[in-house]
Amino acid sequence: MTDTLALFGGPKTAAEPFPAWPRLSDKAQAEAAAVLASGRLVQSAGTRVTAFEAAFAAWVGVPHAVAVANGTAALHTALAALGVGPGDEVIVPSHTFVATPLAILHAGARPVFCDVTDDQTIDPRAIDELATPRTRAVIAVHLYGVMCDMGRILERSRARGIVLIEDCAQALGGEWQGRRAGTLGDAGCFSFSQVKHLTTAGEGGMVATADAGVAGRVRSLADLGRERGGDAAVLPHVRPGWNYHLTEVQAAVGLAELERLESWNLARRQGFAKAYDHAFSQLPGVTAVPLNTDARRNAYWVYPLQLDLAHLTCGVERVREALAAEGIPLPPATGRECCEEPVFAGGADAAAPAATHARCLNAAALRARTLGLYLHPTWDRPHIDLVVAAVKKVLRAFRR
Ligand SMILES: Cc1ncc(COP(=O)(O)O)c(C=O)c1O
Repeated sequence: MTDTLALFGGPKTAAEPFPAWPRLSDKAQAEAAAVLASGRLVQSAGTRVTAFEAAFAAWVGVPHAVAVANGTAALHTALAALGVGPGDEVIVPSHTFVATPLAILHAGARPVFCDVTDDQTIDPRAIDELATPRTRAVIAVHLYGVMCDMGRILERSRARGIVLIEDCAQALGGEWQGRRAGTLGDAGCFSFSQVKHLTTAGEGGMVATADAGVAGRVRSLADLGRERGGDAAVLPHVRPGWNYHLTEVQAAVGLAELERLESWNLARRQGFAKAYDHAFSQLPGVTAVPLNTDARRNAYWVYPLQLDLAHLTCGVERVREALAAEGIPLPPATGRECCEEPVFAGGADAAAPAATHARCLNAAALRARTLGLYLHPTWDRPHIDLVVAAVKKVLRAFRR
C-alpha cells in the first residue's frame, strides 16, 4: 500500500462509503408508523411519551424524567426549574456546544465562562475561582462523552450551595463511580438529536432528576406553564412556560431505541473505543486519548484524539482534510470557543471578551489540537480498522 495521501493523488484508505448514522431499528420504524396511523400524535392523546419518560428514568437511575423538545430546552427548563433567572450567574465551560451557554441566556441569567482541564471537561477549581454572591449554578458538560471529575465538582458546588446541572447531551450511558451521567447533580439534561447516542427521530430531549419538585416545574415550564395535580377540569397556567413538547412519534422511536441502548449501542461504542485506545495511546503524533479511570466510564459519543501539534507540520484542519480525502467520515469541525462567539462577546459575560478568553486558554488550545473520531454502532470492526489505518497514514505523512 502506497503512503501517498489521497489528498495528493494516492489511493483512498476507504474505497467504500461507511454505514450511515443513525439507522433506526426496524422496531423503531414500525412503532413510529403505528403512532402515525393511530392519529394520536401529542402526549395528551397517547401513551408513548409517558412510557418513554418512565423507561428512561429507570434506565439512568432516577425517580423522574421529563421529556422535552430538544437538549437546549432540557437545559433551559432545568435552569428555570432550579430557580436560575435574571441577576444570576452560571459557571459554564467555554469548551462546549453553544447551546449550553445559550440556555443560560434563555433563562435570563449570565454565563460566566471557565476553563477545562486536559481531559476536555470543566476544571473543578473554577467553581471556587469564579463564584460570586450571584453564582446560582454550575453546568458540568460531559463533552465528547468524557465524564467530568464529578467527585470534586459535587464537593465544591455543595460546599458553596450552588446548583449543579449535568449537560449529558453527549454522555448518555457514561458513569461516575457506578452512577450514570445525569444522576449525580440536581438535574441531568439529555439531547436526542439526530447525531447523538440515541435519537428520537431527529430532535428530542429529557431532564432527569431525583427531585419531584424540579420535575414538576420542568413539566409545567415545557407545557406552557400548565400546573398538573388537583381536580381542575381545565389546568391553570401558573407560570410563563414554553411549548417544548416531545411528540408521540418521537417517544415511540425513543422507547424502541432505548431497548437496544446498552446491549448494542453502548456495547459496540465501548468495544470500538478499546480498539482506538490500543491503536492511538502510544502513537507518535498523539498526546492524549480519552481513557477510562477507576471512577470514570466514558460514554464515547465521539472519540477525542489530541494531536501533538509540535511534532506535526500542519494543524487539525489539514489533518481533517486529509482524512476526509481518505474516505473517513468525521464529525463537523468544532468551530470557535463559546467565549469567542459574538453572541457572548458583547457583554453577556461580565468580563471583557479578552479577559474571558484569557481564562479559557486551555479550552482554546484543546480545540486547536483535538481531532474527533466517530465510533458509530452501525459500523463494524473493519470500519474502525480503516479509521485507524487512515489516521496512522495521515499522521505519518505530516510528522516533522
Ligand atoms: C454539549 C451539548 N449541550 C447541549 C446540546 C443541545 O442539544 P439539542 O441540539 O438537542 O438542542 C448539544 C447538542 O449538540 C450538545 O452537544
